Amino acid sequence: MTYWTHEYLLRTWGGPMVQAEFLRDISKPFFTPRIFSGFNLFLEMPQLMPDAVDLVARECRSKRAFIVTDEYAQRFAPKVRSPYEKRHNIKFEMWAKAQPDAPIDTVRDCAAQIRKFEPDLIFALGGGSAMDTAKAAWLLYEHPGVKIEILSPLVPLNLRNKAKLVAIPTTSGTGSEVSGIAVISFPDGVKLPIGGALPEFVPDFALLDPTFTVGMPPALTAGTGGDALAHAIDGFMAPKSDELNQAIAVKAIQMIFEWLPRACADGDDIMPRMKMQQAAMMAGMPLANAGSGISHALGHTIGGLFHIHHGVMVLLFIPYELQVYSRATDRHLELCDALGVRDPDSEEKSLIQLIEKIRNLMIGLNLPISLKDAGVSMSDLEEKLGIILRQTPTDPAFYFGWYDLTEVQLKDIFLCAHEGRLLDLQSDMWR
Ligand SMILES: [Fe+2]
Repeated sequence: MTYWTHEYLLRTWGGPMVQAEFLRDISKPFFTPRIFSGFNLFLEMPQLMPDAVDLVARECRSKRAFIVTDEYAQRFAPKVRSPYEKRHNIKFEMWAKAQPDAPIDTVRDCAAQIRKFEPDLIFALGGGSAMDTAKAAWLLYEHPGVKIEILSPLVPLNLRNKAKLVAIPTTSGTGSEVSGIAVISFPDGVKLPIGGALPEFVPDFALLDPTFTVGMPPALTAGTGGDALAHAIDGFMAPKSDELNQAIAVKAIQMIFEWLPRACADGDDIMPRMKMQQAAMMAGMPLANAGSGISHALGHTIGGLFHIHHGVMVLLFIPYELQVYSRATDRHLELCDALGVRDPDSEEKSLIQLIEKIRNLMIGLNLPISLKDAGVSMSDLEEKLGIILRQTPTDPAFYFGWYDLTEVQLKDIFLCAHEGRLLDLQSDMWR
């Protein structure tokens, strides 16, 4: 199948140009939803002042709302819908069949159910896959004829003629609750990001209730938290990232270093849950507004081929991203300052200490720092290296970065990553 990401001009010229550092001050859009965070977002009793329930209900013009969720997160649906039913007489319908990686067939099924009910408001309740399913199904509800696979970012989506979108995350990592992107998977294994010319997929509201993330198992907490850390670093380092994006990214990174180990240690401790939920949302903002990085391109390919958790894979490639980008920018030194690992006498040593700091966090969370530790054997890697080297450069996260990698350099990254060995930046291929 042909996807918009295969478009030659977009890959070689359009993508890098849109993300270029020298263009960032010409036009500076920064999109976010209206955000509520806390324990009191779904109160059944009317309040003295208008609250989140009132503000969200106001968007629902004829009082029909549709919840898109999955088998796990549907347990939170009664808490979500009850105040709207009782206080604003809103009718609800629910579809709870969202699947991991948002397969296109489930998106179409969801859209068909939404079309039957004709809601004015769509609640996306769940992790990244449920939220992405809701976004794409919303698009098909508004425009049934759209061909998602060829929907390039140059095409406006023209949403919000029939409904608006409220995102309620139940994991802390994806950032989909603040992003203008949905990632949909296709039967041939391709995970396709779709978004449109303007980030119309940015939800109208993001409602963050930390009780919805309580009890997540340590491995899932670590993996999703790793995704959030990769988002913040990607968003900080992206060529287009400016002071606004970087300020949010740095705070998110500091929060993740402080709170992720505690969230993994005790899944029922509510404070680390709340801080991680906020940090993941904050990390999603620079990712959505400034762009992704090669960690995501490399992680998408390996994660897709070997069925390894997205967050685990993208964080594993962050040290390599920092090394590669250090050939083109010294921006990572600001991260060294923020995390207290800057060596005043040596930029090289500062970079190594930053990578060590990140890897120590990963080791403490039982996350792999090499592909070998993640369960990928060298023979499997070598067998699939041809596909890996062909597929990775077609990922938009690859061609929006700082550095146009050659095939030899790309191969070196994958082979080093297998052992957890860092790149030799003094070798001929990296000079
Ligand atoms: Fe991610």
